[in-house]
Amino acid sequence: MSATRLALRGDLLDFTGTPALAQTGLEGVRYRADHWLLIDERGRIAGAQPAEQVPDAGWQRIDHRGRLILPGFIDTHVHSPQLEVIASYGTELLDWLDTYTFPAERAFADPALARAGSARFLDALLAHGTTAAVVFPTVHKTSADALFEAASARGMRVIAGKCLMDRHAPDGLRDDVDGAERDCRELIERWHGRGRNAYALTVRFAPTSTPAQLAMAGRLAAADPTLYLQTHVAENRAEVRWVAELFPAARSYLDVYARAGLLHRRSVFAHGIWLDEADRAALHEAGAQIAFCPSSNLFLGSGLFDWHEAAEAGVRVSVATDVGGGTSLSMLRTLADGYKVQALAGRKLSAWAALHGATLAAAQALELDDEIGSLEAGRLADVCVWDWAVGPVAARRMDVARGLHERVFAWMLLSDERNLVETYVAGTRRFERG
Ligand code: GUN
Ligand code: ZN
Repeated sequence: MSATRLALRGDLLDFTGTPALAQTGLEGVRYRADHWLLIDERGRIAGAQPAEQVPDAGWQRIDHRGRLILPGFIDTHVHSPQLEVIASYGTELLDWLDTYTFPAERAFADPALARAGSARFLDALLAHGTTAAVVFPTVHKTSADALFEAASARGMRVIAGKCLMDRHAPDGLRDDVDGAERDCRELIERWHGRGRNAYALTVRFAPTSTPAQLAMAGRLAAADPTLYLQTHVAENRAEVRWVAELFPAARSYLDVYARAGLLHRRSVFAHGIWLDEADRAALHEAGAQIAFCPSSNLFLGSGLFDWHEAAEAGVRVSVATDVGGGTSLSMLRTLADGYKVQALAGRKLSAWAALHGATLAAAQALELDDEIGSLEAGRLADVCVWDWAVGPVAARRMDVARGLHERVFAWMLLSDERNLVETYVAGTRRFERG
């Protein structure tokens, strides 16, 4: 059986270090104009070489000269059942959950609907240039099975788990401690470490889990440190007040999770807007990450996350769409929103820091940087090919850009899924622009 060896020609961009948030210089940035990216028969990156060094006939050559090639984006916080409520009008977080989100999530109790929804969701990620994701399905075990099955069929790296929620949620969307523990154990056994799937204990947020359920999740986490944890924290002021009422003994919202044993190096906390210095120190100490969700934070009026403050405290930060709170699956649009959110605080966010946050930084924070997040030899070839410009405005902006940062920054701000030409997952083409 002869599997194909692939050579993609284009401008290669990835990171070998950590650019500072306002850094426009090239430290840690690897830009290889007009190169061949070589992908071996196992779907791994074999290396790169200048365009003049044409790979021999043993390689299938695909000429994308004049286009940009990046590692696939990693969306560290997104909800598979919420595509249907994206762009829902007029509410903040807690009303938005009750009015739009919870009703939509009921559908995933039906295995057929969960399967169709998961397939639609992952195909949409691929069509937006995202090849790996940390995903919330619903409370239903079948929703996690459907998502992992769809991810396996596409060879995608997905981290997910059934949502834990045993209170403050409507009928049909609540579990209980014992049933949830059984479901988690079964799903972990079936999916964690199988292919590119990994299991995340998925606490929706502190208000929808009883202390007993949080403790159960903490016991599972303690029993297997390779499990991830995903949840929401300190997104919205009314939510923060509610958590303080529900957990009066905790020092802070984050402390609710810490006390339950859910704050560790594999924890992914979405938002983290309303944290204090002690929380940031605790996140740093634990090696946990914040998934910064600027589109969602703007859309739901949640607040402005200060990336600089987090970085100064040594907190790991990745970037995420949080669809359906976020209004696009495009990580490029999300990064553009991220730039604007930092600008409102008088801060700068360079294209290097932003794109690093959506690729290598996310991979490192998930402890997956030996597999994804860069174009380094040996990584799986999760890569996307992008047009530098779509339409006359972007084309002119590219023509007049001086220097690499100016050009890539304008590309990041002006681009979206319409710029995407092809998406490869482990060396297999999974999306091609029609
Ligand atoms: N907090 C609890 N659930 C959710 C959710 O589905 N989306 C967002 N943005 N925040 C939440
Ligand atoms: Zn969310």
